Amino acid sequence: MENRIEILLDKYSHSRRDSLIPILQDIQEEVGYLSEEAIILVGKHLEMPTSKIYGLATFYNQFRFEPKGTFHIQVCHGTACHMLGAVSIIDFIEKRLKIKAGQTSRNGKYSLEVVPCIGACSQSPVISINGEYHSKLTAERIKQILIDLIGE
Ligand code: FES
Repeated sequence: MENRIEILLDKYSHSRRDSLIPILQDIQEEVGYLSEEAIILVGKHLEMPTSKIYGLATFYNQFRFEPKGTFHIQVCHGTACHMLGAVSIIDFIEKRLKIKAGQTSRNGKYSLEVVPCIGACSQSPVISINGEYHSKLTAERIKQILIDLIGE
């Protein structure tokens, strides 16, 4: 993984701290999450303390620090989805899977991510599981989707 990250870092000049967020976005896009090794490499490249990188990265809730689960659930939290209950959907999934947004379950099976508008507002509220969209969700449907997913 380090090699992929090093190749990616070569695109950015050293010590340009304003490149931090684009670099982290690129790494997440490339390898799916920000590992400790990745943060260390970025720190060396930008000559920044890793604590500062963590601080900034955790401020933006778009970054993940654990690999995705076998089933990666994305919940849209754009305005339309928010108005139609995204928060209770997030809450329900967190309780059901016993993970918080941004986390992966211990068995590596499930991960949860809260994302900005995914461009399907007329279908709100929307979630996606491994890229498959489930739209116009109701409490009943989200319950059923999780039963189907977890199998209990
Ligand atoms: S706000 Fe959820 S799809 Fe646009």
